[in-house]
Amino acid sequence: QDGDIAKGEKEFRKCKACHMIESPEGETIVKGGKTGPNLYGVIGRAAGSQEDFKYSDALTELNATGEVWTSEDLAEYITDPNTFVREKTGDKKAKTKMTFKMRKNQADVAAFLASVSPD
Ligand code: HEM
Repeated sequence: QDGDIAKGEKEFRKCKACHMIESPEGETIVKGGKTGPNLYGVIGRAAGSQEDFKYSDALTELNATGEVWTSEDLAEYITDPNTFVREKTGDKKAKTKMTFKMRKNQADVAAFLASVSPD
């Protein structure tokens, strides 16, 4: 919402180790690793819903709650993935496969990801 897209694009460098951004047509928008799911169009997408990615039980539980990524929720998730999923699912032992935490500029990254979405 109030994030800075250009700044978020720079910050996304920290995510690239594990995430790429690739359109359904196979166009690479940001080259990155495959440890995490493709983040193309992630804002507005159901959590844990990439067919070709093997999610943790935690993300599968999050999907079952009907969670759809908003900019706000994504910013909260990347601040502390386990805490976010535990609060949303009520499963105090939920443990995601994402070990990374981003403590600042989360809204900028969310704004960048929102900008890389289908119209
Ligand atoms: C999952 C964002 C950094 C590994 C996710 C999801 C989002 C996300 C939104 C859920 C996707 C979905 O529901 O389909 C980000 C952002 C990052 C970042 C914005 C940078 C600020 C990283 C890093 C790693 C990583 C550095 C590896 C060290 C993963 C993995 C999952 C995941 C393995 C799947 C989680 C599971 O199944 O429990 N990430 N991520 N991410 N991310 Fe990240």
